[in-house]
Amino acid sequence: MRTNDLDSLWLPFTDNRYFKANPRLLARAEGMHYWTPEGRQLLDGTAGLWCVNAGHGRPGIVAAIQAQAAEMDFAPTFQLAHPLAFEVASRVGALMPPGLDRIFFANSGSEAVDTALKIALAYHRARGEGSRTRLIGRERGYHGTGFGGLSVGGIMPNRRAFGPGLPGVDHLPSTHDPLRNAFSHGQPLHGAERADALEGLVALHGADTIAAVIVEPLAGSTGVLVPPLGYLERLREICTRHGILLIFDEVITGFGRLGAATAAEAFGVTPDMITLAKGITNGAVPMGAVACARGIYDGLIDAAGDAPGIELFHGYTYSAHPLACAASIATLDVYRDEGLFARAAALAPAWEAALHSLAGHAHVTDIRTLGLVAGIELAPRPGSPGVRGQLLFRHLFDKGLLARATGDIIALSPPLIISEDEIGAMVEHVARGLALLD
Ligand SMILES: Cc1ncc(COP(=O)(O)O)c(C=O)c1O
Repeated sequence: MRTNDLDSLWLPFTDNRYFKANPRLLARAEGMHYWTPEGRQLLDGTAGLWCVNAGHGRPGIVAAIQAQAAEMDFAPTFQLAHPLAFEVASRVGALMPPGLDRIFFANSGSEAVDTALKIALAYHRARGEGSRTRLIGRERGYHGTGFGGLSVGGIMPNRRAFGPGLPGVDHLPSTHDPLRNAFSHGQPLHGAERADALEGLVALHGADTIAAVIVEPLAGSTGVLVPPLGYLERLREICTRHGILLIFDEVITGFGRLGAATAAEAFGVTPDMITLAKGITNGAVPMGAVACARGIYDGLIDAAGDAPGIELFHGYTYSAHPLACAASIATLDVYRDEGLFARAAALAPAWEAALHSLAGHAHVTDIRTLGLVAGIELAPRPGSPGVRGQLLFRHLFDKGLLARATGDIIALSPPLIISEDEIGAMVEHVARGLALLD
């Protein structure tokens, strides 16, 4: 490949200068593995980018996409629909907590988040509570890169270059508390009281100005923060008491990552809306969705009364794209037929034990796991935060494991088809990499 073949592509969330001097390419994928163009095999420790929950190249999903491309490549869903769109909506709705079965389609997690925030605003307005315009996110939250998701998100480098964001946004404190919770197994014991910061915001602004709170039930992109015991319950209770909608951003946790269809189910806490993407199609075709409580859908539709016309002025050309719908149905078949959510739950204890065996290694300051996700936090090099994480990521890639580094946190979230042997191999890779880090 000529060097200037690399010039045109501007890679997202990437050090483009470093990358173009040291390109890392993936050319093929199957099951638990990727291959580089040179044929080097990598164990996929990240399910692509938290999305390939059923493993790569599943024949049923491939065939469904191929067949749909031949049958009908595209159909609009503005004022029209196609049969697969209804089927995916009811299949996804059936996996959600009871009552959250009104499904709006988007094409990514970012669009799903912006859709959910807009639905929250429109819903309150339709009910005559148009003063509820304030949106609450959380420090260290990641809700994608649209202006809505960016504004409620809480990761500083993602925000600071892009101006003030949406007006009227506030943030809850992060739940991260390494002093009290480092090396917790499962949900940490300390920190439920951090949900009470919402009471503080209610006292400051008035509940009648707050539309919605959005949180990742388990924060993924920031480096795997497991919610403290009781935290989500308390958030739910405060939201309910003040008429504030609670949105769980389950773009990562949806479709089995925590051993259940949703984190809402895994934690036994039901929000008013759930945002989904990634695993909804096993990553094979872009798709996002918002699962809404029936009351929200009914509230918006009923408010239109007898007047004909559009109830929600929102949507995307590719909402419920036929290829995405075909991929999603085939994906949900694989999840169901192979019992992959239960498989993740069954593997979780072995996963937890294997990951926590890294606890004694140099530089490791915390290990957090739940379901089939893990965060390994490293002490930053003095004066050079993020360097150890990057070096470990690069070393692992060179030695045959795809991991993710967020600053000095290594995140692992393998396909749910992983075997115990592969879990062992993954942890071995990380142990060897840690031993080489200075
Ligand atoms: C919780 C959460 N929300 C939203 C997004 C954004 O999704 P996308 O990159 O598909 O826009 C992500 C992506 O990782 C995510 O983890």
